[in-house]
Amino acid sequence: MAEHESPEFGKADFVLLDNVSMEEFMANLKLRFEKGRIYSYIGEVVVSVNPYRAMNIYGRDTVEQYKGRELYERPPHLFAIADAAYKAMKRRNKDTCIVISGESGAGKTEASKYIMQYIAAITNPSQRAEVERVKNMLLKSNCVLEAFGNAKTNRNDNSSRFGKYMDINFDFKGDPIGGHINNYLLEKSRVIFQQPGERSFHSFYQLLRGAPDSLLRSLHIKKDPTAFSYIKVGGQIKSSINDGAEFKAVADAMKVIGFTADEVQTVYKILATILHLGNLTFGVDGDVTLIENRKLVSVIRELLSTGEENVEKALLYRTVSTGRDVIEKQHTTQEASYGRDALAKAMYERLFCWIVGRINDVIEVKNYDARVHGKNTVIGVLDIYGFEIFQNNSFEQFCINYCNEKLQQLFIQLVLKQEQEEYQREGIPWKHIDYFNNQIIVDLVEQQHKGIFSVLDEACMNVGKVTDELFLQGLNSKLAKHAHYTSRKLSPADKSLEFDRDFRIRHYAGVVVYSVVGFIDKNKDTLFQDFKRLLYNSSNQVLKKMWPEGKLSITEVTKRPLTAATLFKNSMISLVENLASKEPYYVRCIKPNDVKSPLLFEEERSRHQVEYLGLLENVRVRRAGYAYRQTYPRFLQRYKMISQFTWPNHDLPSDKEAVKKLLEGCGFGQDTAYGKTKVFIRTPRTLFSLEEQRADMVQRIVLFLQKVWRGALARMRYRRMKAALVILRAYRRYKVKSYIREVNRRFKNVASMKDYGRHVKWPTPPKVLRKFEEALRSIHSRWWAWTLIKRLSPEEALQVRAKVATLEALKGHRADMGLLRAWEGNYLKRDNPDRASAFSLVASELQRKDKFMRVLFSCNVRKINHFHKVEDRAVLITDRHLYKMDPQKHFLAMKSIPLYNVTGVSVSPGKDQLVVFHTKDSKDLVVCLQGMVPAHDSRIGELVGTLLSHFKSEKRRLQVNVASPIQCSLHGRKSTVIVEPKINQSQPDFIKSRSGYILAVPGN
Ligand SMILES: Nc1ncnc2c1ncn2[C@@H]1O[C@H](COP(=O)(O)OP(=O)(O)OP(=O)(O)O)[C@@H](O)[C@H]1O
Ligand SMILES: [Mg+2]
Repeated sequence: MAEHESPEFGKADFVLLDNVSMEEFMANLKLRFEKGRIYSYIGEVVVSVNPYRAMNIYGRDTVEQYKGRELYERPPHLFAIADAAYKAMKRRNKDTCIVISGESGAGKTEASKYIMQYIAAITNPSQRAEVERVKNMLLKSNCVLEAFGNAKTNRNDNSSRFGKYMDINFDFKGDPIGGHINNYLLEKSRVIFQQPGERSFHSFYQLLRGAPDSLLRSLHIKKDPTAFSYIKVGGQIKSSINDGAEFKAVADAMKVIGFTADEVQTVYKILATILHLGNLTFGVDGDVTLIENRKLVSVIRELLSTGEENVEKALLYRTVSTGRDVIEKQHTTQEASYGRDALAKAMYERLFCWIVGRINDVIEVKNYDARVHGKNTVIGVLDIYGFEIFQNNSFEQFCINYCNEKLQQLFIQLVLKQEQEEYQREGIPWKHIDYFNNQIIVDLVEQQHKGIFSVLDEACMNVGKVTDELFLQGLNSKLAKHAHYTSRKLSPADKSLEFDRDFRIRHYAGVVVYSVVGFIDKNKDTLFQDFKRLLYNSSNQVLKKMWPEGKLSITEVTKRPLTAATLFKNSMISLVENLASKEPYYVRCIKPNDVKSPLLFEEERSRHQVEYLGLLENVRVRRAGYAYRQTYPRFLQRYKMISQFTWPNHDLPSDKEAVKKLLEGCGFGQDTAYGKTKVFIRTPRTLFSLEEQRADMVQRIVLFLQKVWRGALARMRYRRMKAALVILRAYRRYKVKSYIREVNRRFKNVASMKDYGRHVKWPTPPKVLRKFEEALRSIHSRWWAWTLIKRLSPEEALQVRAKVATLEALKGHRADMGLLRAWEGNYLKRDNPDRASAFSLVASELQRKDKFMRVLFSCNVRKINHFHKVEDRAVLITDRHLYKMDPQKHFLAMKSIPLYNVTGVSVSPGKDQLVVFHTKDSKDLVVCLQGMVPAHDSRIGELVGTLLSHFKSEKRRLQVNVASPIQCSLHGRKSTVIVEPKINQSQPDFIKSRSGYILAVPGN
C-alpha cells in the first residue's frame, strides 16, 4: 500500500477502494490522471496511464527518493517496482522480470526505458569502468533498436514493430555486467507496404533526411521519400519524430556500441538497396519477363557488391532442381514482383536480426566464472508490441494479439498463483474468485491440430493450389463451434464480415476481424534460394555473413523450413516459460485517449482497457479475503503506537501475539486473519482506521518526542557543564596540591640549609595562587630574616639594624654603601694605633663628663675651618654628641654638637667620603672621612646607617639627602659643596670655590 500522498490524489492503491466496482475504479483512475498522478498500484502491480506529456518525475532526485525503499514507502512509481525487482534479485538472489503490457501507444517502451535508466542510475557506485561500459551499451542499444524496429502507426508515432525481451545480468554485488536481447517477430510486411497514415521503419526516413549528401550520392538516392514506392505512403506524413537528428544519434550509438565503419556502411547500403528494389518494375516482351528500369539493376549490383547479371537473373528466374537436372524457370511479372518484395522484406529482417546479434556480441557477459564471482542473476524487461486493432488486420496483427493473449494468461496464472500460494503458505483459507480466463483463446490459436496456427500450417502444406480462402474454409470447419471464433459463413447475418475473406476472434482485449489475405504467403515466408545465393556470394563480407544458408548448393535437399506461425508460437512458448521461471513484476499500461492528448481521459476507451487487462479482477483477487497483508514485525513498526500494549515495545511472547492484541484492542478482531508470518486485513476501511489512529498518535508522539528530546538535550548540556566544572575543580585542586607539594618539597629542609633556603627557586604557581605565592614568599622571607636575626649578638643586631637603615635610605641613590664588611663604628683607635691610648683616655673622660652610653662612630676627617682653611681632625659620635677632636693634640675635643641639634646628613651619590652634618643652628659641618685603614675604605654608608638607626631608636627623625652639589649653611651662610674628580689629585681635598667648596677627589 502506498502512503505519503494526500487524499486529494485519490487512492494510490486500488486495493483500498471502498467498493470494487468499475465506477469507483474509473473515478479513481481518472482523478489521479487529472491530478498528474499517472502511476497507481494494485498491490504490487503498477498501473500506468500514458500522460502524453513530459513529466518531471524521472530525474536524479526522484531516483534518490526510491533507491532502496520499500514499495509502500513512496507514491506509486515505475522506479518503485524497478527497485523491488532489483532488491529481490540482490537480496534473495532471485531472477526477476518486469513484464510491461498494454495496447499500442500505452507507454510500454517508454516505461521500459525509464526502468533501465533507473537500474543504471542505482548501480555501480564504485564506477567500475567495465560496468559503466555495459550500462552505456544497454542504454544506447535502445536508440538503435528503435530506429530499425519502430515505426509510426495510426496508434503510436513510435510503435514497436518487434517484441523485445532484454535480460540484464548482475554480478553478486548487484552491478550490471552484461545483457542479452531476444527479439520477436518483426513486422516485416511494413517494409513494402503501409496503411494510409502510417510510415515504414524510422531507419529509412532517418537515412533520407539525416545522411550527408555525399553518402546519399554514393547510395544513389534522393532526399525525397516520396520518390521511393516502398515508403512513399509514409513519406508524405508529418511526424513528431526529428529524423535528421535521430540519424546522427543512431550513427553515434552504433559507433559507441562498436559497429565498424564497414558494418555501418553496409547497413546504409542495405537500406538503399531496399529502397531501389521498391522502384523496380517488371514488364513482358512476348513471353519474356524483363526489368523495365534496368539502370537500377546496376545501382543494386554496386550496393550489394555482386555481379550485375546475377542480380538480374535472381530477380527474373528461379533455379529449380528436379532431382536429376537443374533448370532455370522464368518468373511471371507477378512472381518477379513477389520475389522482389520477399527479398526486400527478408533483407530488412536479416539486417534487424544481425543488428540485435551484434549488440548481443558486445553486451554479453564475458569472463564470468560463477565459482569466483558468485551467482549471476538476471532482471528481464519485456517490452513487446501491444494488442492492436487496425482497419485491416493481417497475419502480423494476429501474431501480435496472440502474443498479448499469452502474456495475459501468464499474468492471470502468476498473479493468481502467487496469491493462492501466499494464502496456502500462511495457512489462510482461500476462496476462489471468478475472473475471465483467456486460456480458451490461447488454445484457439495454438492448440495442436485444432488451433488456428495448425490449420494454417496444414493449409500451407497442401499439395496443389493453396489459397487463403482454403485456409478460411479449414478454420470454418474446425472452429465452427468455438465461442470466440466466427466468420461470415458461420454468421451469415453479420455484414461486417466479408465472405471468404474475414474471420473474427473475440480476444480478451477486444473483438478483431482479420482478413485472411496474405496469411498463407506470410506463413510460408518463402524467399527463393537464388536470392540467398546472390547475397552470400557478395564480396561485401558483412553482407555475406548475414546469409550463410546461401552457401548450400541448389541440389542439396533441405528440410521444409518451419512456418512463420510455428516459429512465432515456439518463441512465445519459450518466452512465457522463461518469464514464468522468474519472479514477475507487472506494469499495466493504459492509453487514456487516441489523440495523444495530455488532458483527455476518454472514459469509454480507458474502461475497455481496464476491463480486458482484468484490472478489476486483479483488485478483487488481491482483496479476496484480504486487502492488505504485512509481516508482523513491519506491521508493528507502523502501528504499534496505537495500543498501550505495543507502545513503545510489547512484552508479549511474539510479534504475532502483539499484533493480535493490538487489532483486537481496536475492535478489528473480526476483520483480520493471522497467518504464519503475516497479518491479513480484510477491508480497507480497517486499514484506514488504523492509519487515522496512527496519524493521530503520530502527532502526539512527535510532540512527546520533541518534549523528551528537548529535555534530554537540556539534561545533556547540564550534565556536560557539571562534568566540566568537576573536571575544572579537580584540575585546579590537583594544580594547587602539586604546587604546594612542590613548595613543601623544595623548602622542607631550609632550616638546616646554610643559607636557610635563600638559593631555593620558587616553583611557578598556578594563576589562582599568585597572591598566595606572594604571601608565602613574604612569610618565608620574614621567617628567613627572623632566623638570621635571632642568631645575632646584640652588637651584631645593632649593626644589622644600621645596615638596614642604610639600605632603606641610600639604596638606589648612592653608588657605594660599604655593606659587605663588618661595621666597627669606633675606628679612631684602629686607624691611629700609636695614639690609641690617648684617644681612649679622652673618650672615657668624655663619657664620664657627658654620660654617653656608647660610641656610634669615630673616624679621622678633613674639614674646613672658619678661614676656609683645611684642617685634619677627627670626629667622635656618641649617642649624645658629635665631637670634633684634634688628633695632633691628643684628641682634644675642640667642639661638641649635641646630637639633638643635628637635623640631617647629606652625602653625594658617588664613592667619595664627603658628609655634611646639618644642624638646627645652621652651622653645618662639612667633612670628608680620611686616614682610613685600610685606605680607600668606605664608611659613609656605615655613618649614615648608624646615625639613622640611633635616631630611630630615640624616635627622632634624621633627614638624609643624597645630592650633588650639596646645599649647606656655614655659619649662617648658604654654600654649596661639589665633588669633582681631578687628575693628579692623590688625596681628597677641599678647595674654595665661588659658591662654597669643591671636594677634589682623585680621578682618572
Ligand atoms: N511516461 C511517459 N511520459 C511521457 N510521455 C509518454 C510516457 N509514456 C508514453 N509516452 C508517450 O506516448 C508515446 C507512446 O509510448 P510507447 O512508444 O512507449 O508506447 P508502446 O506501449 O510501446 O506502444 P507500442 O505497442 O506501439 O510499441 C511515446 O512516444 C510518448 O510520446
Ligand atoms: Mg513500444
